Amino acid sequence: MTDALLDVRDLTKHYGGVSASDDVTFSVADGEIFGVIGPNGAGKTTLFNLITGFEKPDRGTIVFGGRDITGLRPDQRNRAGIARTFQIVKPFPRMTVEENVITGALSRTKGVAEARERAGHCIELVGLVEKRHALGRELSTGQRKRLEMARAMATQPKLLLLDEVTGGVDQPSIPGLIDLVRRLRDDGVSLLVIEHNMRVIMELADRVMFLNLGRKLAEGRPSEVSRHPDVIRLYLGSGHA
Ligand SMILES: Nc1ncnc2c1ncn2[C@@H]1O[C@H](COP(=O)(O)OP(=O)(O)O)[C@@H](O)[C@H]1O
Ligand SMILES: [Mg+2]
Repeated sequence: MTDALLDVRDLTKHYGGVSASDDVTFSVADGEIFGVIGPNGAGKTTLFNLITGFEKPDRGTIVFGGRDITGLRPDQRNRAGIARTFQIVKPFPRMTVEENVITGALSRTKGVAEARERAGHCIELVGLVEKRHALGRELSTGQRKRLEMARAMATQPKLLLLDEVTGGVDQPSIPGLIDLVRRLRDDGVSLLVIEHNMRVIMELADRVMFLNLGRKLAEGRPSEVSRHPDVIRLYLGSGHA
């Protein structure tokens, strides 16, 4: 046993003949920003689905805060302290930003005043105060990503999983999103971050793992992983940098 916040062992998942996760083992420490990179189809989103309980592994264990959560439902894992955002962001389109975030907070508390207060904190944290009365459908992609983060943070997670932080976002918005992820960490969560943009992950992550066809091929500090021959051959050489 380790004292890691998240401890994933031998996680394996097949879809028919496709190996989406193949004996993946890694851990995330308290307060860490851990990056997951790899080409399309590498198994990054599958890993998130397995950790959050949206999918069941064929094999392997997930220990969170010292407790084996492999058999728990998604809502039970959320209550245990795991929250996520989705690669395709989908806030409730006819609810305001504030209402969307209160919905997250209400998964933690029955008190409406308390939920409102928590939501206010999270909206401020992600920089959407001026948009708090805007409808979900009126937001830009970058703003929707911020809203998803606020909604997830409102559930008071210990671990937050972010799928494709800068995906689909215009170049000028990227530094702001990097700052935001750091602020979330400073607010007390550990982060598991899927990110396509190598420059972003270099700046953001304490450690990174590289997946390809469901297998972990490299892990370490971003500067080490970016020099790994498999990473250069399969990823950086193909224009993802
Ligand atoms: N629900 C599913 N049914 C069948 N195949 C799936 C399913 N989810 C993922 N896969 C397959 O598993 C592999 C990994 O997919 P995914 O985890 O989405 O990769 P990534 O997020 O790294 O692009 C791909 O080959 C994908 O087609
Ligand atoms: Mg994906």
